[in-house]
Amino acid sequence: MTHRNIKGQHMKKTNMVLVNASPKGEYSLTLQYAKYLLIHEQDVEWTIIHVGEKLTDMSYDTAWFDEACATIGAYDAIIWATPVYTMLVPWQCIRFFDLVKKAGRQSIFSGKYATSVMSCFHYYDHLAEEWLRGTCEDLGISFIEGMSVDNKDLLSKEFRTSMRFFMSEFHLACKQKVPVPRKSRILEHIDSPRFAPSPNREISGKKTDIRTVILTDEKGKDGNLSRMIEVFAAAYPNQIEIVDINDFPYEGACQGCLRCELVGDCDRKDGFQKFYQDLVNTCDVLIHAITVEDRYLKPIWKLFLDRTFSNGHRTSMMGKHTCYLVAGHLSQVPGVRQFLEGKDHVGRENSMGIISDEEPDSSRLEMMLIDCAGRIDRAVRAKYQKGNNFLGVGGMKIFRDLIYGMRGVVRDDHRFYKKRKLYDFPQKNIPNQLFNLFMGVAFMFKPVRLQAYLRMKPLYIQQHKRLVDSKKL
Ligand SMILES: Cc1cc2nc3c(=O)[nH]c(=O)nc-3n(C[C@H](O)[C@H](O)[C@H](O)COP(=O)(O)O)c2cc1C
Repeated sequence: MTHRNIKGQHMKKTNMVLVNASPKGEYSLTLQYAKYLLIHEQDVEWTIIHVGEKLTDMSYDTAWFDEACATIGAYDAIIWATPVYTMLVPWQCIRFFDLVKKAGRQSIFSGKYATSVMSCFHYYDHLAEEWLRGTCEDLGISFIEGMSVDNKDLLSKEFRTSMRFFMSEFHLACKQKVPVPRKSRILEHIDSPRFAPSPNREISGKKTDIRTVILTDEKGKDGNLSRMIEVFAAAYPNQIEIVDINDFPYEGACQGCLRCELVGDCDRKDGFQKFYQDLVNTCDVLIHAITVEDRYLKPIWKLFLDRTFSNGHRTSMMGKHTCYLVAGHLSQVPGVRQFLEGKDHVGRENSMGIISDEEPDSSRLEMMLIDCAGRIDRAVRAKYQKGNNFLGVGGMKIFRDLIYGMRGVVRDDHRFYKKRKLYDFPQKNIPNQLFNLFMGVAFMFKPVRLQAYLRMKPLYIQQHKRLVDSKKL
């Protein structure tokens, strides 16, 4: 396809393919943003591939997949339009890359330019973009920093101006084939050393008062993960149930329909919602045994985790205990570690640690697992609650504001947040309001501010010091 430039010469239009990873297809919010970019850019020819919608059910149309690959291969540039799902892109998007890999068709991406538009509530969206960028870079794509947007940005005139600028810069980069710096580290495909523990010494007299479940993607196989589970389970003083997440008869992926939020029950009728709610509501300890694959975990985890959305924004593991046994190149994918730590801290899951099979010394790894098994048992019995950090506090503030802002609609979530006093807005704190009212007036006078400055250090720790000095428990 050509068009004429100002001198009447023929110019080639840029062909861009918009890959929509939202399962909502044409009803996707992200798609509106991506279309806005394309509609306002001159000299671009574009088409849409609805990857999210087409790959939502477990079975998919192979003819559609072949055509999608051919289209991507024939186009100059890609705009990934994807919502953020469970701190990453939806499973459907991961599945698409996985299918391309399995079909040996990675060359369709090679040498292309790409960027992304992600719509979300900015909850761990940085991990989603990092994953997408790294995955694209692995495939030889020049990835230009994308736009992460919320559900209102497009309605602002100023924002739209910036969107058009963003698009024209992306287009320019495609036309001029500018060199783009690679951001992600190249993955070295080094297998973890074989974990060879000493023969299992199952401790006897296992207790039954603490319900413990191991969720795993590998069970009873000749792999490090299976052996880590065996060592952990043998040393753990309570009875354990092992659930292989591959065994669940998934009808398909989360469709983003929000039926769970609005009506209560999931639109999928495979029983996953009940299975998951029963699991988290009845267990005291939930161990995750997981395998790292490429830049994330085995894709089955994403299918599983996206479906847990049917439990709403209710952090059902709150106050319980967990730990993560990980097989694979965890140290090469810091985003995965942050995802696990973020999940732990936002959910107040009290993770007692992440144990990776990258440890080269089998006896040390064995000791770590045995130690962890003992620590979890002690922690759960002591009702130990970990301190929080930015990952958890920041994440929870996003959830809090989101649920509060939609409390009339997401009523189950609202009840959960109210009951657990998660609406910790400062304006609800009456003593704090009075304090600020009084100080606001007093601080208009410089001598008061000066006095506050002089007395600030002892005043700030007054209560804490009194408590420590009194040796009170
Ligand atoms: C299963 C599921 C998981 C989600 N996880 C996140 C998340 O981790 N972070 C976030 O900011 N938003 C999350 N969201 C909100 C969506 O990203 C947001 O609603 C997005 O705008 C939907 O875009 P779409 O209409 O194009 O599908 C999630 C939504 C669903 C349905």
